[in-house]
Amino acid sequence: MPVDMVLHNAKIYTRGRIVEAGLAIDDGRILKIAKETNLPPASTKMNLKGHVTLPGLIDPHVHLRNQQLAYKEDFSSGTAAAAAGGVTLTIDMPNNKPVTMDSISLRERMKLAERRAVVNVAFYSAFPQKLEEVPSIVTEGAMAFKLYMSEKIGGLDVDDDKLLLQAFNKVAKMGVPVAVHAEDRKILETKRREMEKTGRKDVEAYSKARPPEAEAQAIRRIAQLAKKSGVQVHFCHVSSAIGLNAFLTAKKDGFPVTCEVTPHHLLLSSEHLKRYRTLALTNPPLRTRKDVIALWSALKQGFIDALASDHAPHTVEEKEVESVWDAKPGIPGLETTLPLLLTEVSEGRLTIADLVRLTSEKPAEIFNLRNRGCLEEGNWADIVVVDINRKYKIDSSNFYSKAKYSPFDGWSVKGKPTKTFVNGQLVMDEGEIVAKPGTSQIVRWKG
Ligand code: DOR
Ligand code: ZN
Ligand code: ZN
Repeated sequence: MPVDMVLHNAKIYTRGRIVEAGLAIDDGRILKIAKETNLPPASTKMNLKGHVTLPGLIDPHVHLRNQQLAYKEDFSSGTAAAAAGGVTLTIDMPNNKPVTMDSISLRERMKLAERRAVVNVAFYSAFPQKLEEVPSIVTEGAMAFKLYMSEKIGGLDVDDDKLLLQAFNKVAKMGVPVAVHAEDRKILETKRREMEKTGRKDVEAYSKARPPEAEAQAIRRIAQLAKKSGVQVHFCHVSSAIGLNAFLTAKKDGFPVTCEVTPHHLLLSSEHLKRYRTLALTNPPLRTRKDVIALWSALKQGFIDALASDHAPHTVEEKEVESVWDAKPGIPGLETTLPLLLTEVSEGRLTIADLVRLTSEKPAEIFNLRNRGCLEEGNWADIVVVDINRKYKIDSSNFYSKAKYSPFDGWSVKGKPTKTFVNGQLVMDEGEIVAKPGTSQIVRWKG
């Protein structure tokens, strides 16, 4: 019996190096990685023309929206954007309408995604109103809980550390991580009131209202709770030097913490925010050049665990408003992350090994995504083929995402995802989505 597919004439990144080989896929999984002569006969053969072949990106921070926010993004447009960007698995954030915060709302989202998605989707849940519901949410398949320290999303009072500890203890028993948006609500509220009193409506006022201290303070608070409860805490989008220091202190003390940074916090700073205004508005905001340098330094020393897009789509009308206080924060990133990072590789600031570790291997490890995150025999065939020499300009009008704007618009990049395979199926080919909706998997927590 021939196997389903053989990809040949590839440069495959496997076990820490690039090998010239082919890859046999059967039943959605990688059966063999070997020289072409050693691969089994296949129903379909595809010549990858010597292109670099990497594990598909696992993006642990994606807002796919849908439901009452479908005008911003839905499971079809969001996962098409993922496929176009070489992302084979997204973990969906819970700040939806309605909020994902119990097994019923989670099941509903899974049902919607199942019919529409073209890449694998896993889910976060916010904390439920009643902590007794934590186990049922995990049993339903949530990969992790998400906690917003900046505002109340879900059932917890974020100012109450005792309650947060109870919640973390519950989650620790279930063995899933808690991802945290770390900006301290009280600091934000005080600073915002100060700023609004001055009558300012500009983006710099917005940044002043969300200072790095708010990030550092929230990280310190949560790190203590991580230590006390033993729960694995993943800090989302660390953005500032002092926030990073708070994180690194906890990590060095052996607290169970990991963190991610976004491409926009690595590649943009407050100067870009001044130029692009509300289009580049995001929470936490873009920081100073000094902060950006600190993030890169930590990244190069191996202290950053993951890179995540924080794909946060809004309409252009919601972004381009007069007063910054009315603007929606968020940048769509699914279609720019890999091209931007491949450009960093081509310019020598990142290695392919860094890229794969930060965008596939570590996210799979942190979120317990079994048999994913690297190209190895037995693993799911989640693959992205890239043309590392292709030069072009980012053009947000071509995005599959409904959010057709980007602070990276017009940027010259080198490196393009040309084919994306999800569970062994070709879903994107030369920028076209070629899979039927609903062909991917809903990935559920398995204890
Ligand atoms: O910039 C952001 N946008 N930060 C968040 O925390 C939420 C997100 C969104 O959902 O738009
Ligand atoms: Zn966030
Ligand atoms: Zn987010």
